[in-house]
Amino acid sequence: MLILCSPHNPGGRVWSREELQGVCDFAKRHDLILVSDEIHHDLVYPGVTHIPIANVDRSINDRLVMLTAPSKTFNIAGLHTGQVIIEDPELHAKFSDRMKALSIGSNSAGTFATLAAYSPEGAAWVDELMAYLDGNRKIFDAAIADIPGLSSMALESTYLSWVDFSGTGMPAKEITRRVQKGAKIAVNLGATFGSGGETCLRFNIGTQRARVEEACDRLRAAFADLQ
Ligand SMILES: Cc1ncc(COP(=O)(O)O)c(C=O)c1O
Repeated sequence: MLILCSPHNPGGRVWSREELQGVCDFAKRHDLILVSDEIHHDLVYPGVTHIPIANVDRSINDRLVMLTAPSKTFNIAGLHTGQVIIEDPELHAKFSDRMKALSIGSNSAGTFATLAAYSPEGAAWVDELMAYLDGNRKIFDAAIADIPGLSSMALESTYLSWVDFSGTGMPAKEITRRVQKGAKIAVNLGATFGSGGETCLRFNIGTQRARVEEACDRLRAAFADLQ
């Protein structure tokens, strides 16, 4: 099985058609089931287009499992509801049987919330949300670019910004100490996303503008000696 995160978390990348085709070709070449987790697909910034992998290569559909949920976009993770899209009848039956055996199913509160979310009103709300997050992204990226040795990955999707601190030359422990204890910002440690992430931190910018601005001020202060 090959699991793809599209758009990517924590990188915030929206994969191009060519990149997605490469993943499809790889799955076919190695006879793998392809699971495409597209939970962040609504959270795409202006000027970028997410391509559902099922639209890239129809010949992949007999081995494709697509995942999505309104939980990120509408902040309703507590309703425990997501969608699994499987076109192939045999694969669909296998998945359903397993879900039944595990007694996992949908719940009506989550189902009604999902219907309300994926409505014209929900779509209009998401447009406003993305315009707001776009503002947060710009403020946060500008502050990061201002601090010597820090760089944020261009955020094409999600409200999760991946910041690389390796240019400071500081060990991971010192970076984390300054951000968590100095700036008092709760972050996800880069190492938890795999090797290579040790000098990176993930910041959630899906919050009020004033909080993002305050976090930027605190980060500048925590690394003021580098200026
Ligand atoms: C890429 C990705 N898929 C799935 C999930 C899980 O989502 P849910 O809260 O709807 O179970 C997350 C949550 O962090 C995620 O980032």
